[in-house]
Amino acid sequence: MKREFDNFDEFAKDYRATHDKSVEISGADSDYFSEYKILEVLKYEQANDSIRILDFGCGDGNSSKYFRKYFNNSQIVGIDVSEQSIKEANQKKIENAIFQSFNGSTIPFDDNQFDLIFTSMVFHHIEHKLHENILNEIRRVLKPGGRFYNFEHNPNNPLTRKVVNECPFDEDAVLLKPSYHKMITIKSGLNLKNLNFTLFLPRHKFFKPLLGLEKILTWCPIGAQYYIRSIK
Ligand SMILES: C[S@@+](CC[C@H](N)C(=O)[O-])C[C@H]1O[C@@H](n2cnc3c(N)ncnc32)[C@H](O)[C@@H]1O
Repeated sequence: MKREFDNFDEFAKDYRATHDKSVEISGADSDYFSEYKILEVLKYEQANDSIRILDFGCGDGNSSKYFRKYFNNSQIVGIDVSEQSIKEANQKKIENAIFQSFNGSTIPFDDNQFDLIFTSMVFHHIEHKLHENILNEIRRVLKPGGRFYNFEHNPNNPLTRKVVNECPFDEDAVLLKPSYHKMITIKSGLNLKNLNFTLFLPRHKFFKPLLGLEKILTWCPIGAQYYIRSIK
């Protein structure tokens, strides 16, 4: 029987090395994929705002590391079901960031606490029947006007499917079709603002001059990943 959510404790220590190996074919490393998402978020946000950020399913805190780099005055909170991943995140000693484990269903904060909630590659590790509850929780802890960015793998992209199929920690992953993801976001009462596709080209040197084209392709449903931006 499938668990309600996947247990990452066994992968926590070597998570980055495992991920580096799994994405090698793309020409970029694990850090690259953490940083690009924060740069996408920055397209809609003011870097210097004093905001409170929740990194939901923060894993070893690698995204939070880049939130710290680009959002100077922010306060960062990361939560994850994996205690070992939280241990790794705390070892990074990211300034003005706290990381804590939780039960995976009730976000351990009062209503209306966060200006921005970010989640990266988490929903495909949670049973689909639980998505509704998680989105309601995310909506609950977002401030009115708060923004939610949810990054996912795109199952329409063959290279993404290959990488996921061969990645040890994605063994139980069930990827979210963009249409399903859109539907559950709207159903949760969040106002859907953007569905953007990303990462169309490999990151090998040869493709570098072409990467600028990606910003006009965000509508094209074959990017390797995509994200939904919604507002409470
Ligand atoms: C592929 S990792 C991504 C980690 C991090 N977000 C990143 O992009 O580097 C998926 C993470 O989702 C976490 N996770 C799984 N189910 C969860 C749940 N119900 N609530 C919060 N996190 C969960 C796992 O423990 C794991 O750390």
